[in-house]
Amino acid sequence: MASLSLLIAAAALVVVAASTAATAAAPSWAPPSSPRPLFREYIGAEGQNVTFADVPVHPGVDFHFILSFAIDYAAADAANASAAPPVPTDGRFAVFWDEAHLTPAAVSALKCPSSSSSPNTRVALSLGGDTVFGYNATFRASSVDAWVDNAVASLTAIITRYGIDGVDIDYEHFGERETPEVFAECVGRLVRALKSAGVISVASIAPFANPDVQAHYGELWRRYGRDFDYVNFQFYAYPSNTTVPEFLGYYYEQSGRYAGAGGGGKVLVSFGTDPASNGLRPGKGFFRACRELRRQGRLHGIFVWAADNSVADGFRYERLAQRFLAGAAPGFP
Ligand SMILES: *[C@@H]1O[C@H](CO)[C@@H](O)[C@H](O)[C@H]1NC(C)=O
Ligand SMILES: *[C@@H]1O[C@H](CO)[C@@H](O)[C@H](O)[C@H]1NC(C)=O
Ligand SMILES: *[C@@H]1O[C@H](CO)[C@@H](O)[C@H](O)[C@H]1NC(C)=O
Ligand SMILES: *[C@@H]1O[C@H](CO)[C@@H](O)[C@H](O)[C@H]1NC(C)=O
Repeated sequence: MASLSLLIAAAALVVVAASTAATAAAPSWAPPSSPRPLFREYIGAEGQNVTFADVPVHPGVDFHFILSFAIDYAAADAANASAAPPVPTDGRFAVFWDEAHLTPAAVSALKCPSSSSSPNTRVALSLGGDTVFGYNATFRASSVDAWVDNAVASLTAIITRYGIDGVDIDYEHFGERETPEVFAECVGRLVRALKSAGVISVASIAPFANPDVQAHYGELWRRYGRDFDYVNFQFYAYPSNTTVPEFLGYYYEQSGRYAGAGGGGKVLVSFGTDPASNGLRPGKGFFRACRELRRQGRLHGIFVWAADNSVADGFRYERLAQRFLAGAAPGFP
């Protein structure tokens, strides 16, 4: 496992060196010497019948779809899921994304060598989320060992069936017994096991600015930060009156928090197209802030919540964001 982490860290350093060199030597865009700038998007949580093919993928970026969500809960009453609170299943994950449209066949079509989005597209799944059947998707574990055993088994089956490349951790609520230490051991051991078995090659966390959330992810980062590649920090959970200077301040604060621990500290910036999202929006200075971070060499990538909401306006801001990241690279097909 240690050697795998080192490989990933080493690859990340090469990225920075390569992009700096490319910028210095040739202001115009160089051919797709991977890795390209990173763009990630959540998909499948909101029942909008959105498909992978609906979403524009720019050939000049590395594009990660993040299937939302796999959750370790089950309906108490299978015949009427909203009749009673769902029950936690102690790490036995089930698929809760739009399975009718985001199928194993759709994932394999996306990655097929003749597909226009191949080879710059990868697919991850996200664990947890805010709610399940309208109730909090609270993190619950009877014990670390039981949760990890169940999670490794159930997720390996889902990941293999779908041909998925990575996991994202997005629990947003925690039980009283599920302390930061318990959460860190459960999730850290899960991700380490999946990576060392070669089941996944990429992992991220998705915290936001809330004391309980930061306490849990902070402990995970302190113990297992080196096992994670990216931090999908939910900047759209900040107030909707966030200004560009405030946004930059939040970015510096969170980059400091998720540095160290041997982790790359790769905090990605984000905006939401969900009406419930807040933060700094694309029409209100988000790209001005990105330009400043890029000038400083600190723009590691952009992610969006969520494709389900963006389908209505034809993915206007996803197009903008990918064009922004790709620079002079040849555009959308
Ligand atoms: C999604 O598809 C289902 C089944 O075809 C349909 O009943 C539903 O209205 C669709 N939802 C949206 C938002 O298009
Ligand atoms: C499901 O349960 C809810 C809440 O108890 C109830 O309002 C609804 O009528 C039930 N639906 C069905 C189809 O039984
Ligand atoms: C859901 O979780 C939040 C904190 O994460 C809590 O404030 C809220 O009371 C919870 N809601 C329910 C219905 O338990
Ligand atoms: C921004 O919004 C927050 C709450 O969402 C509020 O507390 C704060 O006063 C607002 N700031 C300004 C400058 O309006």
